[in-house]
Amino acid sequence: MTRETLTIIDNRTGKTYEAPIEHGAIRATDLRKIRISEDDFGLMSYDPAFMNTASCRSTITYIDGDKGILRYRGYPIEQLAKRSTYLGTAYLLLHGELPTATELNDWTWQITHHTWIHENMKKFMDGFHHDAHPMGMLISSVAAFSTFYPEAKDGNRETRHLQIVRLIAKMPTLAAFAYRHSRGLPYAYADNDLTYTGNFLNMLFKTTEVKYKPDPILEKALEVLFILHADHEQNCSTNAVRSVGSSQVDPYCAVAAGTAALYGPLHGGANEEVLKMLQVIGSKDRIPEFIKQVKEGKGRLMGFGHRVYKNYDPRAKIIKQMADEVFSVTRPNPLLPIALELERIALQDEYFVSRRLYPNVDFYSGLIYQALNFPMEMFPVLFAIPRTSGWLAQWQEMRLDPEQKIARPRQVYLGPSERDYVPIGRRDAGAQRP
Ligand code: SDX
Repeated sequence: MTRETLTIIDNRTGKTYEAPIEHGAIRATDLRKIRISEDDFGLMSYDPAFMNTASCRSTITYIDGDKGILRYRGYPIEQLAKRSTYLGTAYLLLHGELPTATELNDWTWQITHHTWIHENMKKFMDGFHHDAHPMGMLISSVAAFSTFYPEAKDGNRETRHLQIVRLIAKMPTLAAFAYRHSRGLPYAYADNDLTYTGNFLNMLFKTTEVKYKPDPILEKALEVLFILHADHEQNCSTNAVRSVGSSQVDPYCAVAAGTAALYGPLHGGANEEVLKMLQVIGSKDRIPEFIKQVKEGKGRLMGFGHRVYKNYDPRAKIIKQMADEVFSVTRPNPLLPIALELERIALQDEYFVSRRLYPNVDFYSGLIYQALNFPMEMFPVLFAIPRTSGWLAQWQEMRLDPEQKIARPRQVYLGPSERDYVPIGRRDAGAQRP
């Protein structure tokens, strides 16, 4: 019988320690037993950017980065993209099981009847400059929700569920209002007859028609994109939601923190950066020069690389396949041939192959968003909307996990040891500055 333990010998003292291995991990707190003296704090693990640290145990999303596998509650992303809806997937992430027809109808009814936002939120959004980035507006507006629902701090099941419904329902409304604000257009209100994505398109693009009719191919494309972006285990923004949520602040503030993290160009902001990169490259014959610049460290191939996927991101595969369908009803995107050639060249280039850099979810998504007439600055917003259900599923799991406490990492201190204060007048002019 193999012992599921790690035997550690501390060569400083010759002592031996046993650390149990559970689910492929040892508890970092087990390292504290390894001391050189009684008043020693014991060993810590040092892991900047959490390259190899599990912050939680989760049953929500599984990724195998080497095999390019992504599953929500055990269901392969390829099957969900083909057969589920976004709200059905959101239900799965939050409840752990696919909904029955009755459950889905009830869930859809709840979401549909919470899409409106308080009229004062419009005044709040009107305060932004005309060219305010919609992600900045979204981050602020989501946080502002916490002032409209003070009861959200209460962690009981019913209150928690109502805030989850409100956030999933209202994110598209906030996003659409931010878009309309940036275009100087009057806000368009929800149409409860439409689907979640159809209503989002309605609130974005409705003009003078009495009833907006979303293009079914574009509505379906957005549905699939929302499913693909719904969750992705402990990514940067989810880590932010869990960490901020661990102080037991309301979910609006926790989701606002996640939205802020997602805004970064290394994370959800990459889809906007990919389009800018393709526009700068401008033509296929300029790709070799661009690749040369990247290899010289003068830039990054945005939409490539991933902390976990060391193979093709399964979501990128699905999005790339979708592109043809979308472009069949919109104008073909002139940047697509550049993206395809860039991918072809990069996947054969030793620099990218040796670093196991493959297209990720952001490489092709922007091309589709552009074909759907979204301006580039809306692309990260289109990531934040669907990811809200994943963030909330992870937040809920964290709040219900008896092992989770307030997130408070330790540090390795390398600063100055104790020293006495020196009055300003007598400080040595040549003193070292940090
Ligand atoms: C998302 O975590 C998630 O799950 C995120 C996400 C989700 O669904 O939540 O999947 C969504 O954020 C996708 C990633 C979107 N970001 C981009 O496309 C930006 C470009 N990619 C990179 O910046 C980078 O690949 C990251 C940020 C995605 C991952 O970075 P890591 O894991 O910290 O890797 P690294 O920066 O340490 O890079 C390792 C090496 C380095 O080279 P060396 O120093 O070893 O010589 O690979 C190089 C990097 O320079 N490298 C790249 C590169 N990405 C990494 N070189 C050129 N182009 C790139 N895109």
